[in-house]
Amino acid sequence: MKLTSAEIRQKYLKFFESKWHAIVPSASLIPENDPTTLFTGSGMQPMVPYLLGEKHPLGTRIVDSQKAFRAADIEDIGDNRHTTFFEMLGNWSLGDYFKWEQINWIWDFYVNELGLNPQKIYISVYRGNEKFGIPRDDEAVSMWKEKFSWVGIEAQAVDIAEEKWMQGGRIFYYNEKENWWSRAGVPENMPVWEPWGPDSEMFWDFWEELWLHAASEYSDQPCHPACDCGRFLEFANNVFMQYKKTEDGFEELENKNIDFGGGLERIAVALTDTPDVFTGDLFDSVRSKIEEFSGKTYGADEKETKAFRVIMDHLRVVVFLIADGASPSNKDQGYFTRRMLRRAIRYARDLGIESGLSVEAAKGAIEEYKDQYPELEEKRDIILSEIEAEEKQFLTTLEKWLKEFEKLLKGFKIAFERTGKKVETIAGAKAFKLYDTYWFPIELTEDLATEHGLSVDRQWFEKAFEDHKALSRKGAEQKFKWGLADDSVATTELHTATHLLLAGLRKVLWDHVFQKGSNITAERLRFDFSHDVKVTREELDEVEAFVNHAIQTNMKVSIEEMAKQAAMDAGVVGSFWEKYPDIVKVYTMKSEEEVFSIELCGGPHVEQSEWMGKFKIKKEEASSRWVRRIKAVLQK
Ligand code: ALA
Repeated sequence: MKLTSAEIRQKYLKFFESKWHAIVPSASLIPENDPTTLFTGSGMQPMVPYLLGEKHPLGTRIVDSQKAFRAADIEDIGDNRHTTFFEMLGNWSLGDYFKWEQINWIWDFYVNELGLNPQKIYISVYRGNEKFGIPRDDEAVSMWKEKFSWVGIEAQAVDIAEEKWMQGGRIFYYNEKENWWSRAGVPENMPVWEPWGPDSEMFWDFWEELWLHAASEYSDQPCHPACDCGRFLEFANNVFMQYKKTEDGFEELENKNIDFGGGLERIAVALTDTPDVFTGDLFDSVRSKIEEFSGKTYGADEKETKAFRVIMDHLRVVVFLIADGASPSNKDQGYFTRRMLRRAIRYARDLGIESGLSVEAAKGAIEEYKDQYPELEEKRDIILSEIEAEEKQFLTTLEKWLKEFEKLLKGFKIAFERTGKKVETIAGAKAFKLYDTYWFPIELTEDLATEHGLSVDRQWFEKAFEDHKALSRKGAEQKFKWGLADDSVATTELHTATHLLLAGLRKVLWDHVFQKGSNITAERLRFDFSHDVKVTREELDEVEAFVNHAIQTNMKVSIEEMAKQAAMDAGVVGSFWEKYPDIVKVYTMKSEEEVFSIELCGGPHVEQSEWMGKFKIKKEEASSRWVRRIKAVLQK
């Protein structure tokens, strides 16, 4: 008999309850008292203090089903298994049981309780690294081998460091990229004190679906469990959480802990042996709503399948985000809610759906999840009304987008009449702005452009897009230094003005603007930034007005020291992150009402803007390909 996802969830909680675990409700998607991250992105997030040694009020064995949202994956949704939102089934030993119990219990749960066929289960373990003084996890391997042998499978362990193919293996030793678990990923990215552990992942082999590999972009390489082709699905992760990073290496945590995480959506499809998480029952109601609204069938057409998946993924997370307090807005977590909802709406248009789907899909999601997550029922009215209002607002924005496009065409026509020169390409910066303001697909901009005999500077667009993506992934490394000639008052004032200038440029020209270079003397500032067309006088006026307005409010500049990771996660605009220490200085320029700029910087800055004078842009010119240069002064 087929188990529903809700039944799997209950079985799991009950199973570990029978092993003396306390069942705890999911924490919010918006972390409390944790400034290091915007969202709860793993089951581990709310448990960090306890993993580090704090006493949990409910004891040393905990089990839960935690809501998780990984914002960095938004653009990647579309394949058969990635979702930005998922439910992580988790069990925790806080200095209690360790490897042996975990491997025995989890095997028992999957193979005996759920009935997964062990022939289709594959395992990965950490291959160790002398450089870090961490041994190869042969201990886990022998435990897994024993489990397999009980069901008549002789499990071979093979090393996958250099030989990336199956090699007749059942258990695979991988390096840090696969089997090292910390919230920050691989060792180099971890801040000091971050807890981590070698892990052992479980994969499901959709063996009837070997074609998935042959049809993927990896088809010219052999397949293995961690291959990204989609044939194998990682459905569980046993983390042996026992180390923390120190200034010069790693040391053991006070306790040896277990952090287990199993994605519910993935377990559900392993159980039905269908290699597409979006066919799972948790998506039934939203999928059928899309089919009903569009008159199309899921899976019938490749391009439409992607649209279906994006909509299914995004609308679900929007419901949970609003329930946890992130109403659609232009900042912080609410920005993500807005972005996900708008993206879903525009993908729905690709399927021919005009409006109304989001609210109906949200009703379905509330129904599906309300027993496990009662906050959805409690916030039902708010969730539905906010989604409805946002959709309405966005649809008018769409109209504006179309008008913008018309304006663009008119501008080209006028230019042609005046100069006799025909414009044939829409600048990448313009296309990017249209994309990023209205979440309108670049492909549609291109379609419209083609209809009017134009093309889009796609190369530039892609570049702006990549830069932007890198920033929203919080990892942008920009090769740039604030070049200050001296530390005089005049130079310092111009340095502060430079930060405001960048903020103004990003506001007026848009988020593709990054710093490319700077040189500041006591007389003037010179600032290079990414942009591909001449900045018009009107735009420069707007930027100037922004800077002067900030100065006139007598804004204050404050410095805050914070963990680098926290600054990155908070979306602080920064340059050359890799050169900064773990604790960074973040400058905020704000008046009582407005925030003008929040940036990572080594200083120095004025404390307040009262005596800065009037900001004037003297010159705007090309510096190199795709880089513009501004020279500006402060007039007293
Ligand atoms: N914390 C582990 C993960 O998220 C279980 O994969």
